[in-house]
Amino acid sequence: MRIGIVGGGLMGSGIAEVSARAGVDVTLIEVDDAAAERARKSIERSLERAVGSGKLQAPERDEALSRLVYSSDLGDIAGADAAIEAIIESESAKQQLFRELDRLLPDAEFLASNTSSVPIMKLAAETTRPERVLGLHFFNPVPVLKLVELVRSLMTSDETLIRARSFAEGQLGKTTIESKDRAGFIVNALLVPYILSAIRMYESGFASKEDIDRGMVLGTAHPMGPLALADLVGLDTLLYVANSLYEEFREPSAVAPALLQRMVEAGLLGRKSGRGFYDYTS
Ligand code: 3HC
Repeated sequence: MRIGIVGGGLMGSGIAEVSARAGVDVTLIEVDDAAAERARKSIERSLERAVGSGKLQAPERDEALSRLVYSSDLGDIAGADAAIEAIIESESAKQQLFRELDRLLPDAEFLASNTSSVPIMKLAAETTRPERVLGLHFFNPVPVLKLVELVRSLMTSDETLIRARSFAEGQLGKTTIESKDRAGFIVNALLVPYILSAIRMYESGFASKEDIDRGMVLGTAHPMGPLALADLVGLDTLLYVANSLYEEFREPSAVAPALLQRMVEAGLLGRKSGRGFYDYTS
């Protein structure tokens, strides 16, 4: 099987790495050669880390590397059996991409989006065959977290759902859950209001960020606290999801706190920018 992945950021490269390790040929498309090169480096680093920690043998790493092709030409996706979009969370950019994927991949088993905030129906509606479009929502870090949400729009066919589930479970070894096409799907609809509450708690001076995080790690056995998790997810992504939840449900719990908005405006996006609630530069 050959999968086309568009977008080689944190999520796209994670999906590409996991796919290549599972024996799937991958064509990873980025906006330009420099971005494609960054994606290559990040995947190679991650594979090296897996070899270093004994989770992957060197021949398996080489096999995975041989399955990965990088390109800045979307046309190179032609002939892929299916595609997963993992570009920036811009509705218009994603819509434009789905129009092109529809044209380039007339026979694809499915056209999936890893979006966490754009309704799948808005992407499917741009294509001539909305029945083969669905959401395949992975979690960060993709090589570690087992879950994939399958998101079915009003138009997604049973066949598309079965094929996508078989890819995520049968090929990649992930566990899937199924959600309707509602803002936040299942996990973010629960997770994001929780993280926003933690930001409000910190913003109001109720407790220190360290104590909020320590409280949830030690008090509820979460692997990390909500503010550290916000930094991992990326504060810009968090803001996108919060806004889409608010737009859809109009619940106060989804209102983005002013502090989150200011931090995104300041470019304090979390781990990816080096600083968010915590400092990652050292
Ligand atoms: N890539 C590959 N492997 C990684 C990794 C990465 N980026 N980060 C960590 N790992 C591996 C490590 O190699 C290690 O493997 P080992 O146990 O076999 O040695 C294991 O994961 C644990 O890593 P560490 O010991 O370095 O660190 P932690 O134990 O603190 O785990 C963590 C780090 C995996 C990030 C863990 O804290 C965690 O699971 N946190 C919660 C993450 C989470 O909730 N993600 C979901 C976010 S929501 C989302 O993505 C949806 C979006 O739409 C917003």
